[in-house]
Amino acid sequence: MTVIGTGYLGATHAICMAVLGYEVLGVDVDPRKVEALASGAVPFYEPGLPEKLTEALESGRLRFTTSFDEAAAFGDVHFVCVGTPQAPGSHAADLRYVESAFAELAKRIDRKALLIGKSTVPIGTAERLTEMVHGLSPIGQELELAWNPEFLREGFAVKDTLHPDRLVFGVASAWAEAQLRAAFSPILEAGTPLVVADLASAELVKVAANSFLATKISYINAMAEVCEATGADVQVLAQALGYDDRIGSRFLKPGLGFGGGCLPKDIRAFKHRAEELGVGQAVAFLGEVDAINTRRRTRTVDLVRELAGGSLKGVRVAALGAAFKPNSDDVRDAPALDVARLLYLEEASVVVYDPEANENAHKAYPDLDYADSLAEAVSGAQVVVLLTEWQQFRDADPEHLGALVANRAVVDGRHALDADRYRAAGWEYRALGRPTASTTVRLVEHESDSVALTLS
Ligand code: UDX
Repeated sequence: MTVIGTGYLGATHAICMAVLGYEVLGVDVDPRKVEALASGAVPFYEPGLPEKLTEALESGRLRFTTSFDEAAAFGDVHFVCVGTPQAPGSHAADLRYVESAFAELAKRIDRKALLIGKSTVPIGTAERLTEMVHGLSPIGQELELAWNPEFLREGFAVKDTLHPDRLVFGVASAWAEAQLRAAFSPILEAGTPLVVADLASAELVKVAANSFLATKISYINAMAEVCEATGADVQVLAQALGYDDRIGSRFLKPGLGFGGGCLPKDIRAFKHRAEELGVGQAVAFLGEVDAINTRRRTRTVDLVRELAGGSLKGVRVAALGAAFKPNSDDVRDAPALDVARLLYLEEASVVVYDPEANENAHKAYPDLDYADSLAEAVSGAQVVVLLTEWQQFRDADPEHLGALVANRAVVDGRHALDADRYRAAGWEYRALGRPTASTTVRLVEHESDSVALTLS
């Protein structure tokens, strides 16, 4: 098999497939990525992936190239894993890389083969690309196309690829289904649920799943806004809601909201596509989901300003975290970095520290100051703001940090710190959707395993 595009998704897929026993050729137009991967270096931070790359290279089953000629000659199935970023100046997805990858392959493939799209695309793309590749390929309709959406989370990429919650095969023929079954046989044999679908449903599963997750996060963050107006505590609320099996506690964590290379652009592209299809009303709520999410960033800045006494001008702020979530060095649409930028625009003296993402953050925002350690970042800070919940920040001792800062004031943008411990150590602790003082309604568990609200 070949894997076209060796970014997050493609590199992980190529490596894991080789580990599972397939002969894999990874293809990228960027020679630097190809060289790095071929020499055993993963060009981004992903726990567990470098070890799998070594294993795959040592097996002799994984190679990389920049040549589409080589790819077309090599593969029986070709996975297209290139990016679909947000188009400049629009909410639509930019499909130029996907179109080019399918076209470059189709022009060269001269024996029966299957092209499999994995990239997240607007509904209807697979059908359109099918026509395009039939027109371009020397073998015409013998070249088939399928869609196999990918649900991997950064930070869990290896696990999500080798042990996914489900596989979805969007196919137009029994032959295509059989090829996909063969390409995933070790994963299917492990009992992974499989949904076989038409092309449009397969495309839709991906954007619908991400929209649902984004909606769940924005739902609890909307409740945080209500909490702020009423004195209720959103963390208590989330805990109580999460015990309901029908709701569940995952993706119900309030705070600074979602970012990254998928959720924000996927919900925008989905809304855009639905409008084109004449069903914009059905997903109009996604505009609200996006707006709630963006408000989290300005509200976090409000809290920092409040703790700074009303103005941020000249105030030394330690911004802990830049990545869009922990265990990642990805700063694409990162709420953390956006907050740092907004603080900077209000003339705060911001020092950013992220255990893995400093370099990428510096490339995106060279004007911000970056520290090499947590201790350096907080030294002399008048306000500390936690923006990405790295374990290192969760584990930090409030007494130890307190000895370094100029002023014990912290905004917990991710509800990741122990408010009581910080307050006991003399910190002023603030978090979105949580009361300013510690005297509040708390949730306690009873011996009977039922829950009750008590005052503490
Ligand atoms: C997401 C989807 O989970 C994955 O299935 C899809 O294939 C790609 O997009 P990813 O972008 O890696 O994966 O991150 P995810 O773990 O989903 O987190 C997204 C964002 O939501 C992060 O910024 C995270 O901090 C935030 N988040 C998550 C919350 O704010 N609250 C939560 O409860 C959960």
